[in-house]
Amino acid sequence: MKIQEINAMEILDSRGNPTIEANLWLDDGTKARAMVPSGASTGEREASELRDNDKNRFGGKGVLKAVENVNTIIREQIKGRDFNSQRELDYFLIDLDGTRNKSKLGANALLAVSMAFARASSYSSHIPLYQYLGGSNAHVLPVPCMNVINGGKHADNTVDFQEFMIAPHNADSFRESIRMGVEVFHSLKNVLKSKGLSTGVGDEGGFAPDLKSNDEAVEMIIKGIEMAGLKPGEDVSICLDPAASEMWENGKYKLFKSSGKLLSSDEMIDLWESWSNKYPIVLIEDGLAENDWEGWAKLNSRLGNKIEIVGDDIFCTNKDILKRGIEQNVANSILIKLNQIGTLTETLETIEMAYRNNFNCFVSHRSGETIDSFIADLTVAVNAGHLKTGSGCRSERIEKFNQLMRIEKELGSAAEFAGIKAFKTDNDKN
Ligand code: PGA
Ligand code: ZN
Repeated sequence: MKIQEINAMEILDSRGNPTIEANLWLDDGTKARAMVPSGASTGEREASELRDNDKNRFGGKGVLKAVENVNTIIREQIKGRDFNSQRELDYFLIDLDGTRNKSKLGANALLAVSMAFARASSYSSHIPLYQYLGGSNAHVLPVPCMNVINGGKHADNTVDFQEFMIAPHNADSFRESIRMGVEVFHSLKNVLKSKGLSTGVGDEGGFAPDLKSNDEAVEMIIKGIEMAGLKPGEDVSICLDPAASEMWENGKYKLFKSSGKLLSSDEMIDLWESWSNKYPIVLIEDGLAENDWEGWAKLNSRLGNKIEIVGDDIFCTNKDILKRGIEQNVANSILIKLNQIGTLTETLETIEMAYRNNFNCFVSHRSGETIDSFIADLTVAVNAGHLKTGSGCRSERIEKFNQLMRIEKELGSAAEFAGIKAFKTDNDKN
């Protein structure tokens, strides 16, 4: 695969902040484009997202330096060069950057090139991206974990926890599960309306009402599921991402948006245990902060046999950190975000390590997204069984669902919808 040309430009993400897109041509004339997302509640150990910090443009959030790095340093090195594989290109980029966290060229610059090359290579080989990435065994359609109530850093409301998701797992197909999920989303809107609550949405398209407590968010969702004619727990379960690193202050968790109450790590674990007894919860991501490793080990030993315990900020899609997490038994699943690590190959290495150690992989968008649907293909490529990519509205979220419906149609009878077995729950033992 010889790269004929590459260029990048500054575009906007779903929050109206700058991000980077790359266009790449192979010498057979194939052309592909990739766009990079951006997070708000980022992990401390994520690969470096290069921003201009020029306060005169976009409040310092411009990415012209990252764009220039692609258009000069990277272009000069890869234009006209033959790469036999994605791995060869990605390691070439990693070496060219030369830093541990990609701070020289920017993980955003590297990822745009990495994804564009993968997509161009799939076009050039006339193989759909999910199959190009995953081979002919790529066939599992994921349960869409839809973030229907937004709080934390993703919404200006009184809800401390960032994401309240529904998992419509009792379906025969992805298409059917999306229908169930969207019907719950619409009936939740009616529940909120009937109580005089706001139905405006947050960054990921979930509702963002001011609620009296965090519990109330789950209770509203349960009502929404029932109003849609479905059974909580049986048809649709609940997943949470409180993004607890954002609440961690001097060794305590501060419920900063509702009560201002401080909870110890043990009290947070008690809270998750009581919630998982009370509500049909199948997955908790970032229930504790990225630097509370002791707490994570306790949480996983208390709940890890019953529900899926996913590490996002704590692992940052980084295989070295995941290795430590496996050794210390802090979780049973890892969140997968390409831009946390900065190349496709490293992402696939992390996924491989997870699977070899009986961890699940939960593929994820970022809160600042574009219409690029790369993660839809990636989820099927690695048969991850579940993903989170927003709610039942906003095209940058919906495009991933639409792409998954296209993939399901294309796979035909080879497609398998993951259902409840996608999750690490006590059903595993049945
Ligand atoms: P982010 O949120 O993209 O703002 O980091 C997503 C998450 O925490 O999972
Ligand atoms: Zn998260």
